[in-house]
Amino acid sequence: MSMKTIGVLTSGGDAPGMNAAIRAVVRSAIEKGMTVKGIRRGYNGLIDDDVFDMDIRSVSDIIHRGGTVLYTARSPQFKTEEGMAKALATCKKHGIEGVVVIGGDGSYRGARDLSLHGVPCVGIPGTIDNDISSTEYTIGYDTAMNTAMHMVDKLRDTTQSHERCSVVEIMGRHAGYLALNTGIAVGATSIIVPEIEYDFKRDIIDRINKTKQTGKKHFIIAVAEGVGHVEEIAKKIEEETGIESRATILGHVQRGGSPTARDRVMASEMGHHAVELLSKGIGNRVVAYRNSQLVDDDIYEALAKNKEFEYDNYEIAHKISI
Ligand code: ADP
Ligand code: F6P
Repeated sequence: MSMKTIGVLTSGGDAPGMNAAIRAVVRSAIEKGMTVKGIRRGYNGLIDDDVFDMDIRSVSDIIHRGGTVLYTARSPQFKTEEGMAKALATCKKHGIEGVVVIGGDGSYRGARDLSLHGVPCVGIPGTIDNDISSTEYTIGYDTAMNTAMHMVDKLRDTTQSHERCSVVEIMGRHAGYLALNTGIAVGATSIIVPEIEYDFKRDIIDRINKTKQTGKKHFIIAVAEGVGHVEEIAKKIEEETGIESRATILGHVQRGGSPTARDRVMASEMGHHAVELLSKGIGNRVVAYRNSQLVDDDIYEALAKNKEFEYDNYEIAHKISI
C-alpha cells in the first residue's frame, strides 16, 4: 500500500542537520507525488493539531542552518492514552498515513507507539549524543564534536599560557561518545565518561603527574556531562597537584551551529531513505548507518539493541595522551 500523505516532525533535543533531514524528506516525498504535512514541536504538534502543508519551497535555505524549523519538544502528554487519542485524531483529520520522526531513542519509542496505533512511522536518528544503539552515526554528532573541539582548542590557548589545568564538561547526560571523541581530538590528558568507572587518583592525578614529569605544563581533562562535578574535580586537582585549575561547562552551544558536510550529507541520505520506505507502505522502521551503509531496522529490534561503548578508542586515547 503506497501512501499519499505523510507528516514529518522533529522531537527531543535538537541537533544540527535536522533541517537538512526535513528538507530531504519533504523534497523526496513531493518528488514521489506525495503530500507532506509539517508537524510543529514534536508529538505536541499532533496533540495540539499544529500541522501545516509543506511544499518544495518550504524547505529552501535551511540546509545550512542548525536547530529545526519545525521546532522540537519533549511531550510527556504523548505517552498518555489521552495524548495518543488526540494525536490519532489529528492524523485522521489531515489524512496523515505515515510519519517521519527525526529524534533520539525516546522519540523512537513514540514512533513505535504511533505505529502500533495504526500510523506507520519511520525514525531518523537525530541527536548530538550518538547514543542510538541501532546506528553507528546520528545526525548532529559530527557538528557537535567539531564545535566542542574548537571550543576546547580556544581553552587550550589560555590553559597553556597560564600553565593550568582545564577541566571541561562536554554534553552527554547518559552517553560519553561525544566526550570521548572530542577528548581524543583535543588530546586530553584524561577522558572521563559515564560508561567507564573512574578512579580519581589513578585516572586523573597520576596521569597529570606522569605527563608533568616528561615536561608537560598544561592539562585538559575532558569530562562527560553524565559524570559532571567539574568544579569539584578542578578544585581537587588543584589541591592535590598544586596546578592552578579551572572548570568550564561547554553547555548548549554544542547543540547549535551550521551542520558540517558530514551531517548534511547523512541527513539528506537518511531523509530520502525514510521516504522510500513510507512510499512503499513500509513503516515501523528506523533508518541506520552501519558498516558504511544505509540500512533500516524494525523499531522494536532497534530499541532492544545495546550499543557497545567505544572501549578501543578509550584505550587508544589513554595510550597516546602521555
Ligand atoms: P530523544 O528523542 O532525544 O531521546 P526524549 O527521550 O525526550 O528525547 O523523547 C522525546 C519524546 O518522545 C518524549 O517527549 C515523548 O513524547 C516521546 N517518548 C519518549 N519516551 C517514550 C516512551 N517510552 N513511550 C512513548 N513515547 C515516548
Ligand atoms: O540528548 C541531547 C542532549 O544535548 C544531551 O547531551 C544533554 O544531556 C541533554 O540533551 C540536555 O537536554 P536539555 O536541552 O533539555 O537541557
